[in-house]
Amino acid sequence: MESRYVVKQYMSRGAQAETFDALDTESDVQVILKLTHKADLSVNQQNQLLREAQLQRKISSEFVVKVLNAYETASDIVTVLEFAPFGDFETQIQKRSAPFDESAIITWAMQLLLGLKHTHSHNIIHRDVKTANIVLIKDDKFPNAKAMLCDFGIATENDLAKTVVGTPYYMSPQACKGLNYGQKTDIWALGVVLYRLCTFEYPFFAGNQIALRARIASGVFQEVKGYSEELTGLINRMLEQNEALRPEAEELLKDPIFESRIRHFKYNEEADTVEGTQ
Ligand SMILES: Nc1ncnc2c1ncn2[C@@H]1O[C@H](COP(=O)(O)OP(=O)(O)O)[C@@H](O)[C@H]1O
Ligand SMILES: [Mg+2]
Repeated sequence: MESRYVVKQYMSRGAQAETFDALDTESDVQVILKLTHKADLSVNQQNQLLREAQLQRKISSEFVVKVLNAYETASDIVTVLEFAPFGDFETQIQKRSAPFDESAIITWAMQLLLGLKHTHSHNIIHRDVKTANIVLIKDDKFPNAKAMLCDFGIATENDLAKTVVGTPYYMSPQACKGLNYGQKTDIWALGVVLYRLCTFEYPFFAGNQIALRARIASGVFQEVKGYSEELTGLINRMLEQNEALRPEAEELLKDPIFESRIRHFKYNEEADTVEGTQ
């Protein structure tokens, strides 16, 4: 590991990587170090991971966790990330008993759609949108914590295969059928995230994978209760079975539910830029 980063605390071990809380001694800023062990990856996958981390470094959206640096050591590929002090949504949901406010959920939906719109416009697909891959940070522009996508675009095929081994609650009908992961798959998964933020449940749930796939394919789920028709309607649009009818992020952002927010926060998309060339 570069001596520039001093590890402070172990955070978590995921399917593929370990995360640590660390200090960047050059900037004196807290960062996250994500170590992916090379031994778990083929040489191709190692190269892909580094390439994608480098690509992500050039992408700048205030709703995507910034990759500050990426390098390899003898044993690991290390990605250095902007630190989000409030942790991830899944941990928040696990800790919480009272429902989230509708207004907070709509603002998070807007932020995550802006994050997806930005990355989709650069032909990057997240592939693993879920509550555990969304982290929260304080931002004075927003009354609640700001949501940012993390664990972004670097899911390898190996990783996806592992996801299928678990119970894939976020899987779109197309992904269930083994079709390619496209941008609309991210939209579906965001629909599942929002459903979960409203209900703390999954729209499609079953004790085993075969039953779960059948549920997802049936398209039948219990409607969200306790929230406005507008918010429920937005979630239903994202959980549209037919990929051709499921809107893209840009179209969803035109939903009247976001109008006043987008005006209020004077969100400037021009500020989201890709630096340099790929
Ligand atoms: N930038 C970050 N700030 C704060 N916590 C983070 C950050 N990135 C990841 N984490 C925490 O570490 C966990 C695992 O990180 P993630 O990037 O999702 O790796 P994995 O491939 O192991 O799923 C996340 O679910 C989150 O709790
Ligand atoms: Mg993750």
